[in-house]
Amino acid sequence: MTTSALDRALTESSLRPLPAAAAELLLITNAQPRLAAHLRAVHDVAWTLTDRLGRGRPDLEFDTTSVLFGAATHDIGKTIHSSELSQPGHLHEDAGRELLLSYGVPWHLARFAGTHGSSWHPDSTGVDLEDLLVSLADQVWKGARVPELEERVGSQLGAAPWEAFMILDDLIQDVAAGADTRLAFQSAFPVS
Ligand SMILES: [Fe+2]
Repeated sequence: MTTSALDRALTESSLRPLPAAAAELLLITNAQPRLAAHLRAVHDVAWTLTDRLGRGRPDLEFDTTSVLFGAATHDIGKTIHSSELSQPGHLHEDAGRELLLSYGVPWHLARFAGTHGSSWHPDSTGVDLEDLLVSLADQVWKGARVPELEERVGSQLGAAPWEAFMILDDLIQDVAAGADTRLAFQSAFPVS
């Protein structure tokens, strides 16, 4: 029996495995292998971000399980809007949240599919640190820096602005250093 590209995207590399429920959803929805590889990369970065923030700032309250599930499923709407795997677009965001809800995923875990692309925008309301961390992971996995997003995360750290900047900048630089390896892993898998 040969192993499918989707199975390989879910299991290969030293990236941490997705939460079991997220991997199951990707299998059920027959996700594109490249999408699964992308979610592995972003989830791995979210793991590092929550681990480092949690150890460095134990007073900070955020739900790690939610962030990791959100990172592992945030783009699942691209199983429906497959053109957005290779071109920009936002149709996958609401579609992803609705898809997750239709499979019985509770709102507090499904919401990230809808918020990951805009949580840091000035008009975004009702956004928690968890939403911002999923958005941050979805940028820094490839080494992208979004000042407005980082500022909004920093503002949630409850520290002096310069201190928040130092904490985040160190962390993001460390994570961004692995971008090339993650990009190579993702692009090794087909979009269909
Ligand atoms: Fe993404």
